Amino acid sequence: MSGKLRVVGGTPLTGEITVRGAKNFVSKAMVASLLASDTSVLRNVPLIRDVDVVSDLLRLHGVEVNYDQEAGILGITPGELHLPDDPMEMDRLAGSSRIPILFAGPLLHKMGEAFIPDLGGCHIGDRPVDFHMQILQDFGAKRLQEPGGMHLVAENGLKAKPVHLPYPSVGATEQTLLTAVMANGITELTNAAIEPEIMDLIAVLQKMGAIISVDTDRTIRIEGVDQLYGYSHTSMPDRIEAGSWACAALATHGDVYVRGAEQDSMMSFLNVFRKVGGAFEIDDNGIRFWHPGGDLSSLSIQTDVHPGFMTDWQQPLVVALTQANGISIVHETVYENRFGFTDALVEMGAHIQTYRECLGGLPCRFGQRNFYHSAVIQGPTPLVAADIEVPDLRGGFSHLIAALAAQGTSMVSGIDIIDRGYEHFMQKLQSLGAHVEKVE
Ligand code: EPU
Repeated sequence: MSGKLRVVGGTPLTGEITVRGAKNFVSKAMVASLLASDTSVLRNVPLIRDVDVVSDLLRLHGVEVNYDQEAGILGITPGELHLPDDPMEMDRLAGSSRIPILFAGPLLHKMGEAFIPDLGGCHIGDRPVDFHMQILQDFGAKRLQEPGGMHLVAENGLKAKPVHLPYPSVGATEQTLLTAVMANGITELTNAAIEPEIMDLIAVLQKMGAIISVDTDRTIRIEGVDQLYGYSHTSMPDRIEAGSWACAALATHGDVYVRGAEQDSMMSFLNVFRKVGGAFEIDDNGIRFWHPGGDLSSLSIQTDVHPGFMTDWQQPLVVALTQANGISIVHETVYENRFGFTDALVEMGAHIQTYRECLGGLPCRFGQRNFYHSAVIQGPTPLVAADIEVPDLRGGFSHLIAALAAQGTSMVSGIDIIDRGYEHFMQKLQSLGAHVEKVE
């Protein structure tokens, strides 16, 4: 991974930044536009690498994609779809994304075939796609293995089948939605994920002409239709990015107004932020997060699917917890391997120990297995500068927060990955008073 940053820590982050649309919604809404017979328009689209990757993947299939970066408006017109001329080009793009698997359903509907390259994404666990493959095969897709990926075909179209997810996977729920909306028949999806990003995708699909209902027991019913139309939609804000800046404000004793952040999708984060001792104030345009002075409090928490505390908030929160008074316990129940980033924090002076046992919460599916998925953090510990290698997107941003909170000058390598999900993060850091400089 490339890109190196010199970070002189010890300055509180103060000021205002803007958060635009959610990476984990925008990319899926872009895929949904493949199902339309005409142009879709998506607003509040951030300038992040995942948007570039999905735009390029769409273009490889003959889709016209126009992006007005400043206005944050994407226009997507499917036109005549075709398989990429060069599958290896798809493979090159997919090296940094897990989105291609979601192209399968829409392409099978539109062309009867799809090529899905081997998947990339952050190394935070095994991240298999077995649920996805089961769904596609149940709906009638046949899989042919090819070098660099798999070729899927559905000569007789896709037919609805009941889907029960072994775990409420976000991606597999989206796979079911994008495949079932134009399948023949009614799909009942049980144990679905109901993250706000999924609800926003359902809103988009409904605008396109889909018929989808969501029950309170995580059951989603999708009635297949023959045709879908372009949509016009404004993305929900990126609640992960907003939570990351909130934790950065807390860990550096700062005060940051996050324009664009909204309360609804951040309820569980806000509760935790307050319990730890952070202060926030919500208005119609955003949320101000700050360290009110005094000691921060330790706590015991576990990550979970919505409406629980998101796994993607875990890493920035852990950095803030190194500054809290007492012993905190964090039980990661979504990914089996999401504490790798704590090694660097320990090097910087944090007291963090990881365990295989399910600590501080209910037993999860990773208990009694060889996964270090619980962390005990003893604070407060002053952090000192270090040379750090960024492990993944959220872990990487958390390393930046740690370097900003630390005394001294840190060198943070591999920071280019952060562009995947944090728009203009360098400019934002500088506007908040951080002493950061790109050296490579
Ligand atoms: N899983 C399987 N089999 C599957 C699919 C998932 O076992 O076929 C497991 C995974 O290994 C994991 C769990 O189910 O242990 C949850 O995975 P999920 O499918 O929910 O995650 P995802 O769709 O791959 C999205 C986000 C992640 C976010 C998770 C959970 C995108 C592009 N990615 O991943 O975001 O952590 O949902 O909310 O939407 C990030 O933004 O940094 C990020 C990793």
